[in-house]
Amino acid sequence: MKKIVILISGRGSNMEAILRAHQNGMFQNAEIALVLSDKENAPGLKIAKEWGISTDFINPKGFLNRAEFDEALAQKIEYFSPSAVVLAGFMRILGEDFVRQFENRLINIHPSLLPSFTGLDTHARAIETGVKIHGCTVHFVTPQLDCGPIILQAAVPVYENDTPESLGARVLKEEHKILPQALAWLLEGKLTINGLKVEIKDGEGSVFPR
Ligand code: GRF
Repeated sequence: MKKIVILISGRGSNMEAILRAHQNGMFQNAEIALVLSDKENAPGLKIAKEWGISTDFINPKGFLNRAEFDEALAQKIEYFSPSAVVLAGFMRILGEDFVRQFENRLINIHPSLLPSFTGLDTHARAIETGVKIHGCTVHFVTPQLDCGPIILQAAVPVYENDTPESLGARVLKEEHKILPQALAWLLEGKLTINGLKVEIKDGEGSVFPR
């Protein structure tokens, strides 16, 4: 049985989208081994518990530096020898050693059409910049923030009266589709990284909406 570990820091709606997809049979021969948070009161932890999933909390304040935190985090995750580690709203930058340890099995959901708008406040920046199309991206994680090979993207229109909240809500709906899909492909061994690109076996298309 393949194992999935999900890392969160907050609300947990993307995590819940994965749990729902799992319930609907999207991930064959795989189980959600752990939902792990760096915030003790992350609402997502409560949701995971309600779903009967094992949860854990790791307190960054309990470590002298980032390297020590990363090492402890890696130990908790590697205990399960997971096939996939999903950053689903995990709001902490992970160091190079951590990223290398989970290379090719570590994916992240980012709320913009990368390579535009890496980092934070993506919806406000999209509106300020005047882009007409915005969206979200699932990518493999590499040491450079939000720059790893892109697996899947979804696009949404930006309307003139949009606020960061209204635009963010439109994007979030798409996040909930592309993250489980990308995870399913990863678990099925359908993804090959070729330089900066990700090749997808069976060519189902890597742009949403389809
Ligand atoms: C999502 O917008 C995700 O793209 C970003 O953080 C947010 C997490 O939301 N990385 P949730 O906790 O999954 O509801």
